[in-house]
Amino acid sequence: MIRTAALILAAGKGSRMHSDTAKQFLMIGGKPLFLYSVEQYLSCVDQVVLVTSAEGRAFAEQALAGAGLSGRVPVTLGGKERFDSSYEGLRFLQELGDFTHVLIHDAARCLITEEVILRVLQDTVRYGAAVASVPLRDTIKISDSEGFAADTPDREGIYVIQTPQGFEMQLILDAFQRFYEAGAPHVTDDAMIVERFTSRKVRLSRGDENNIKVTTEADLPVVRGALSAEGGTETETAGRRNGKC
Ligand code: CTP
Ligand code: MG
Repeated sequence: MIRTAALILAAGKGSRMHSDTAKQFLMIGGKPLFLYSVEQYLSCVDQVVLVTSAEGRAFAEQALAGAGLSGRVPVTLGGKERFDSSYEGLRFLQELGDFTHVLIHDAARCLITEEVILRVLQDTVRYGAAVASVPLRDTIKISDSEGFAADTPDREGIYVIQTPQGFEMQLILDAFQRFYEAGAPHVTDDAMIVERFTSRKVRLSRGDENNIKVTTEADLPVVRGALSAEGGTETETAGRRNGKC
């Protein structure tokens, strides 16, 4: 039987945002940013877990209680690096129940839609591992040490990777175990751990250009605009935010 879970990673410091409040806890449209992701996942998976830092925990728990979600969304502590937070969340899930598949999501990607979540989930069940991705739009150049263009790789076949990233539970746990045994070498996403430490292939599922990761101040007006536009007509809101999965 398939049992699905989502880890919403919200244990970062948000240093590139230069704000006193960590970016995942900034208020957007009267709601802390991380809650947008939590709400999207609740209608798509069997269990949602929020991963926070020790400093952010009280605020997160209060916000969940305010949204009537205390009983439904347990909170656990993350770790120093993003991959540590993923792993802490996975271990928490292991204790919580028998989940067959897990989606790992950046709380900072607050414009995530049920459509993308379900597409990645479907591919995760089918292929064992899948990540949301979009084809590269811009031209990439490799610079030389003096800041001049040294090479222009072919854009064809290059994808920008987002979250969710979905995995069979056992696959990602095994991958993480080997990764830590190897001394936790530098990685930039969870899928890379599966690519490096298992023989399984990761499916590139179709993400969404709007599924940006809030990173700097410049992203705030963009998400504010997108989320308030969504509050537009009742039908639009129902379609995007409240669709039943
Ligand atoms: N994250 C986490 N645990 C960490 C680091 C990051 O749970 N130790 C989470 C962040 O809260 C965020 C997501 O992973 O939702 C993506 O990371 P990123 O955008 O890099 O967030 P931060 O690390 O918080 O930001 P910065 O790199 O600017 O400090
Ligand atoms: Mg970071």
